[in-house]
Amino acid sequence: MRKALVAQGLTKAFGRLLAVNRVSLEVVEGSAHAVIGPNGAGKSTLFALLSGFLRPDQGRVYLWDREVTHLPPEVLVRMGLSRTFQVSQVFPGLTVRENLWIALEAARGWSPFPWLKSKDRAWLEERLAQLLEILGLEDEAHRPVGELAHGDQRVVEIGLALSLGARILLLDEPTAGMSEEETWRTVELLRTLHRQENLTLLFIEHDMEVVFGLAERVTVLHLGEVLAEGKPEEIAQDEAVQAAYLGEVVLG
Ligand SMILES: Nc1ncnc2c1ncn2[C@@H]1O[C@H](COP(=O)(O)OP(=O)(O)O)[C@@H](O)[C@H]1O
Ligand SMILES: [Mg+2]
Repeated sequence: MRKALVAQGLTKAFGRLLAVNRVSLEVVEGSAHAVIGPNGAGKSTLFALLSGFLRPDQGRVYLWDREVTHLPPEVLVRMGLSRTFQVSQVFPGLTVRENLWIALEAARGWSPFPWLKSKDRAWLEERLAQLLEILGLEDEAHRPVGELAHGDQRVVEIGLALSLGARILLLDEPTAGMSEEETWRTVELLRTLHRQENLTLLFIEHDMEVVFGLAERVTVLHLGEVLAEGKPEEIAQDEAVQAAYLGEVVLG
């Protein structure tokens, strides 16, 4: 099984606080892999290290076997790694269609001008229609993203990453702040993307039902370190994990 993303001994300190401490992680191509852990465990910092937004003090990151430890986010995006944020990063004044269009053009290095070659325009229209269908946003295509429900805005954000050509998607709490219905719609979407588009998913998630519904592997972080790793059902039985979570969430 090919590794899509590998971290070896990643360490990041903020002053005297070791936010991420010798973390190693292997994400298999085409898998759905969850990172869980109590608040402050270092999950978001780990994602920032993996996606080039922060530089590690020690350790290495490999993307498709190529070392990318010191490459900036925009280079990693071009190599197929995109991330979403806990706060949405869409253009709220533009419509869903416009947001996706801009990302599709950007990914192909095109300029945002109307005199595109007709062949290119046809390709764009086709991919756009396909994306709107997968995302379930056909009816919202002409609405400004800022006017959509929170859950739909987050779906647009996932759509932007896809438009940019993501092969690996890092999602930081993709269902945070969502209603139950929005949560399950998002899980369904991620499942579809995972299966139909063979997208590799690495996601941070608090909701254990979502973790169990989506993840094939789970890595547990605690105080910046990897506390456990395994299949979801193994993690749910793990006593060290249960102790770390005591008073935080109920596992299983
Ligand atoms: N930019 C920063 N400067 C200083 N401390 C930070 C910074 N980012 C995160 N931290 C600290 O690092 C630890 C891990 O944070 P974070 O990665 O956000 O955890 P998680 O996402 O698991 O809740 C926390 O104690 C947090 O306060
Ligand atoms: Mg976080």
